[in-house]
Amino acid sequence: MKIFLDTADVEKIGKYAAMGLVDGITTNPTIILKSGRRQEEAIKEICKLVDGPVSVEGVEEKEAGMVKDGVKFSSWAKNVVVKLPMTEEGLKAVRALSKKGIRTNVTLVFSPTQALLAAKAGATYVSPFVGRLDDVADDGMELVRKIREIFVNYGYKTQIIAASVRSPLHVAQSALCGCDIATVPPDVMEKMFCHGFTDAGIRKFKEDYEAAGKR
Ligand code: E4P
Repeated sequence: MKIFLDTADVEKIGKYAAMGLVDGITTNPTIILKSGRRQEEAIKEICKLVDGPVSVEGVEEKEAGMVKDGVKFSSWAKNVVVKLPMTEEGLKAVRALSKKGIRTNVTLVFSPTQALLAAKAGATYVSPFVGRLDDVADDGMELVRKIREIFVNYGYKTQIIAASVRSPLHVAQSALCGCDIATVPPDVMEKMFCHGFTDAGIRKFKEDYEAAGKR
């Protein structure tokens, strides 16, 4: 499974990219706001750090504005992917941008039928929001499983990005169900390295190594 980082924090991106762990980046207006930087400047820097797809999101509500934004975003770097909301206008923009050879990521997906429509419109990626569904006592991962089953049934090439990831469990569940990509916030990425037994094991081996050296 591919791992995208769900952040515009260039320090974190640089750190994990240098380890070969970053297949792409997703951003949204909230993530850009948190970075404290201007969108264009942040995206251009991120695109230099990461070769994989970098999703960029605007706030236009009509097809014409979305397409205009999409063309502008994709002029920033060759790996920009245009993020569009799961609305009728958003799907019209998906179609228009894909005709221009611009890749799209349909965001704010909360149902299997939304994902089906996005795939039919020609989206490169769909982003079901796992954590936000869990927040309202729905089952976010079940949505990912359903979308995957539909895409496999009919051979859709659209890739599924498990988004709104809140824990390493979401990442593991995404990988287990064959989801193409999980987009992971840096705090979740950090947790994915850790296990108390690993730390305890290292401590014990070190103690025993040192004790053996005293013989
Ligand atoms: C990524 O594409 C999404 O915008 C992001 O994962 C949303 O995450 P949140 O629900 O934690 O805001």
